[in-house]
Amino acid sequence: MLGVSVAIRGVDEEIEYAARSGAKVLITGESGVGKEVVARLIHARGARHSAALVPINCAGIPDSLLESELFGHVKGSFTDAHRDKVGLLERAHGGTVFMDEIGEMSLRMQALLLRFLESGEIQRVGSDRHVPSLDVRVIAATHRRLINLVAEKSFREDLYYRLNVIHIEVPPLRDRREDIVILLNHFFAGFAETYAMPRPEVSREAMKLLTDYHWPGNVRELRNVAERLILRCVTGRVEIDALSREIVLDGSSNRAQTPTAKAAEIAASPLLFERIVRGGESFWSVAYEPFIARDLTRKDIRDLVRLGLEHTRGNYKLLVTTFNMAPEDYKKFLNFLRKYQCHVPFQGFRMMSSPLPDPPEYIASA
Ligand SMILES: Nc1ncnc2c1ncn2[C@@H]1O[C@H](COP(=O)(O)OP(=O)(O)OP(=O)(O)O)[C@@H](O)[C@H]1O
Ligand SMILES: [Mg+2]
Repeated sequence: MLGVSVAIRGVDEEIEYAARSGAKVLITGESGVGKEVVARLIHARGARHSAALVPINCAGIPDSLLESELFGHVKGSFTDAHRDKVGLLERAHGGTVFMDEIGEMSLRMQALLLRFLESGEIQRVGSDRHVPSLDVRVIAATHRRLINLVAEKSFREDLYYRLNVIHIEVPPLRDRREDIVILLNHFFAGFAETYAMPRPEVSREAMKLLTDYHWPGNVRELRNVAERLILRCVTGRVEIDALSREIVLDGSSNRAQTPTAKAAEIAASPLLFERIVRGGESFWSVAYEPFIARDLTRKDIRDLVRLGLEHTRGNYKLLVTTFNMAPEDYKKFLNFLRKYQCHVPFQGFRMMSSPLPDPPEYIASA
């Protein structure tokens, strides 16, 4: 899961935890936050990774067809049923089914799904026989607050509790702005390759507007913006005038309200962190040298150390290797941080998130 924010690192831990068990997972979050990415990672990191992940978009299929899509049908069961058809659940046997937009499912389909979840059995449309018990992991997602649908009786409460064994909420992009630069960079790299265009540089002012923007369409919107910028940007540099009106107006109105908003400052640290931890470059070349040359500030270094300590949960020794330095550089690293007052106390990070416990019994057997 790409991103350095505490929020997204938390999501990543929950993915690990969910991948270790076979329990049902409910993924929620606004449109475009990455719910499908989460579902795919849970499947890919889990024991079923070599079997299929079968996605179903419950909102995209009319109710009349959804039943036969999910459960299959036998020849002649309705006008267009010219031959027997295996349903998606059967195809996912041994693997995972990803039921997207579960909140849009009709009450009738909810009842059928519940029956399957309780028994593992399915009945093809038009058949009176049950297909022998299937072994399918169910991961569901929705952009809705399912509990509200339960309150207004358009979503079954019993189904809600069946699906909601592990709940992963993916936060909106505006609540994890540290990830914007990294994701933008990631999408630039991808689209630059796709379109054989240069990877553009973004001016400081334009980047500030991009990080201030409230991103209602979340990561998907950011991806679209990156694609458009690559195609528009023939000069290889993104200035403010390349940005859409919403982004420019939203950014400047934010600034007017919070002139010194800390979150709005463009941070170098996430990108440095990304280059070191994912790119495999060393702290000495990526951070130390530019700092000595005065291209980076004390704050940049402190923020980078903070991100690192979040990653190692306050462990400085581990930070040395995480930042691709030799273990014997430990003293040199600490001396450097102290000398330039970039040392960050580790204690706060020890408490931040304790390791997740083993899944309780009820999850393992669900
Ligand atoms: N952390 C991430 N790293 C890389 N790409 C991401 C990340 N999160 C989302 N994306 C990309 O953003 C786009 C939207 O993600 P996804 O389809 O998973 O969102 P969603 O929450 O399922 O959206 P919707 O509710 O609209 O179905 C996809 O192109 C996905 O690859
Ligand atoms: Mg989706």
